[in-house]
Amino acid sequence: MSNAAPATEGPDRSDGPLHVAIIMDGNGRWAAARGLPRAEGHRRGVEALRRVVRAASELGILHLTIFSFSAENWSRPASEIGDLFGLLRRFIRNDLATLHRDGVRVRVIGERAGLEPDICALLNEAEELTRANTRLNLIVAFNYGSRQEIANAAQRLAREVAEGRRDPSSIDADALGQYLDAPDIPDPDLIIRTSGEQRLSNFLMWQAAYSELVFVPIHWPDFDKAALEGAIAEYARRERRFGGLAAKTGS
Ligand code: FPP
Repeated sequence: MSNAAPATEGPDRSDGPLHVAIIMDGNGRWAAARGLPRAEGHRRGVEALRRVVRAASELGILHLTIFSFSAENWSRPASEIGDLFGLLRRFIRNDLATLHRDGVRVRVIGERAGLEPDICALLNEAEELTRANTRLNLIVAFNYGSRQEIANAAQRLAREVAEGRRDPSSIDADALGQYLDAPDIPDPDLIIRTSGEQRLSNFLMWQAAYSELVFVPIHWPDFDKAALEGAIAEYARRERRFGGLAAKTGS
């Protein structure tokens, strides 16, 4: 990719992260601090998500992955799971046309089996409608767990070996990576987690091998463009060596 600024307007992508992934944490604590129900925290979380999708486009990010429902979130009370699924339904119904107009391509990673049919239909509709868009890939991790994703990939490789279609010695990191949920999307440059927690919680663990991790103390409903810019500024101060000695690549 060239470092030269494009002749037309548009963000300068020469040094910033191309793929940002976000663990949107702290909705519940945000609500509790205000004496509000957790559902209100999640609702405000969707508003933060809208802001951040817009900001990501403006800042020249090409891929934005969001952790919106983890495979482990099933252990929450049924009422909260219902709230989260309701928000996803409403987000797609209300925002899909705007996302499409703004050139956003929606991709979904995670396990579809076991999801309610209307949710699957909405996820498919979002992917189909926006398939040709190129301004921003919005990768929604829904019913997603990194260990499950890696285990599924291993299972596919094992099946190929068992059926005599693959030599075990051909299994390397690239081969496994090809069977992850979005193999064409580059690994995240930057992973942000809000609310001060400092762990990955089964999110993109394979893809995070060389990601820069930035933990911000604010809760997700308060996250905005300025907070995203702050995390990107922190990223810009890091030296990425990818295990070698070279200075930061970035172009
Ligand atoms: C973490 O807050 C957030 C989640 C479990 C889900 C994130 C969901 C949204 C931002 C809204 C839904 C978005 C879509 C697209 C459906 P938490 O409940 O773990 O907060 P806590 O740790 O403070 O309790």
